[in-house]
Amino acid sequence: MRPHHIHEVLFTREQIQERVHALIEEIAADCEAENLVMLGILRGSFIFLADLVRGFAAHDLHPRIDFITLSSYGGGTESRGQVEITHDTNEDLRGADVVIVDDILDSGRTLAFAKRLFLERGARSVKTCVLLDKKANRAVRMEADYAGFPVDDFFVVGYGLDYDNRYRELPYIANVTFTDG
Ligand code: IMP
Ligand code: MG
Repeated sequence: MRPHHIHEVLFTREQIQERVHALIEEIAADCEAENLVMLGILRGSFIFLADLVRGFAAHDLHPRIDFITLSSYGGGTESRGQVEITHDTNEDLRGADVVIVDDILDSGRTLAFAKRLFLERGARSVKTCVLLDKKANRAVRMEADYAGFPVDDFFVVGYGLDYDNRYRELPYIANVTFTDG
């Protein structure tokens, strides 16, 4: 880990909670309840997905819930990143309305990969839901159907997002400053 510190809170616990509740309303208004599957991308989505689905019961939405783990590889440079599945789901997605949940939409490769995968497996529809959207950093054409907050091209942690698998537990989103220049 490079020397760093947690620099500034960008979104507080309360701001996140309020935005998540608005997203729950949006998703509930749009989604067909019968065959809804919420698929979180590990590990960054675990808190966000848990908060989303706890708002669903009030809307009589009872989705199947599962997670997949995807990882990027390909030499470490962002522009060459390929995505592969390291832990898959066994849920039958044929005819399902899938909502993919991730912490942040950055280059777009992860969500583009997951969306294509679930459509190939016979999902009737695939939507995407992210807490944060780093719009400036897109490498492939990908926009989220539901997005919590736009963010500038900072490195951010908290509420599931990590730096080297740390800081996921923070109840707020903060940016990290690297102190080694
Ligand atoms: P994409 O495939 O480039 O859109 O990458 C999305 C993934 O990159 C997210 O699921 C995060 O795991 C990771 N990521 C991108 N930006 C950040 C960040 O600022 N903090 C922590 N993780 C990030
Ligand atoms: Mg992630």
